[in-house]
Amino acid sequence: MISFCNLVRSIALGAAFVCGCILGKSEYSRMSNSTRNRGGKNNPLLQYVHNHSMREHPVLRNLRLRTMEDSDNAMMVACEQSQFMVNMAKLIKAKKALEIGVYTGYNTLNIALALPDDGVVVACDISEDYPEIGKTFWKEAGVEQKIDLRIQPAVKTLDELLAAGQANTFDFVFIDADKVSYDTYYEKSLKLTRKGGIIAIDNVLWGGRVLNPSPDDADTVAIDKLNKKLHRDTRINLTMLTVGDGLTLAIKL
Ligand SMILES: C[S@@+](CC[C@H](N)C(=O)[O-])C[C@H]1O[C@@H](n2cnc3c(N)ncnc32)[C@H](O)[C@@H]1O
Ligand SMILES: *[C@@H]1O[C@H](CO)[C@@H](O)[C@H](O)[C@H]1NC(C)=O
Ligand SMILES: *[C@@H]1O[C@H](CO)[C@@H](O)[C@H](O)[C@H]1NC(C)=O
Repeated sequence: MISFCNLVRSIALGAAFVCGCILGKSEYSRMSNSTRNRGGKNNPLLQYVHNHSMREHPVLRNLRLRTMEDSDNAMMVACEQSQFMVNMAKLIKAKKALEIGVYTGYNTLNIALALPDDGVVVACDISEDYPEIGKTFWKEAGVEQKIDLRIQPAVKTLDELLAAGQANTFDFVFIDADKVSYDTYYEKSLKLTRKGGIIAIDNVLWGGRVLNPSPDDADTVAIDKLNKKLHRDTRINLTMLTVGDGLTLAIKL
């Protein structure tokens, strides 16, 4: 007999290699051209999870569908992961958030929708083009005034926030940009985050490559190194989840 734990584990392992959302028929059956399996058709359990838990704002849903038309759509956060992070942000009554790596702004929009009227999400990306796709939707959802988009290397934005005296003021951070800078993003985010705030780090399983990091694969090496560091980091409590491509939540102590 399959134990509950094993069942949960196989669901989780299935989900670890999935990034993206597959819900309805036409809209969700599309597979990405990327090497990452976006689930859905080939992952009925993930489809079940979506069918039984997703509650997307209609504009957020439209942004997801628009993002699926983009050739780089494998970069989009898994929708069930985004919903989970937003629920966490609400639990800690987040007012100030930081998104490091916006892409088309799915998670940025989701968190902006959850923030109070005087809340803000500082959104960092180096690309002008990707966030441009999201802007229309942010406006349509009526939350664009909560999104402070900064197009420049994220490290520069984090340094500017620190220089502006914003250390210890952020409630929720999502790290999801270039992997080799992950440790730098983490250290600066830890300074910017208040006690009890959450730093969420995406792609910590990196399609399973962390199991056997090849020395010439700088991304995998960087992720694995940070995973090992976080495990013994006494400045935080942590949870590593197999949702999406792997998600670590670090709670600042
Ligand atoms: C995985 S995507 C982000 C996905 C997004 N969080 C979402 O909710 O769908 C990574 C993004 O990081 C951006 N990026 C890459 N290097 C960066 C850097 N040095 N500074 C800021 N953004 C960067 C890319 O342009 C890309 O849009
Ligand atoms: C999920 O919902 C879709 C659309 O209603 C349906 O076609 C599919 O069979 C459902 N899958 C599961 C596993 O619940
Ligand atoms: C952090 O973890 C320790 C040990 O598990 C626990 O005693 C403490 O209450 C936790 N702190 C927070 C803020 O979760």
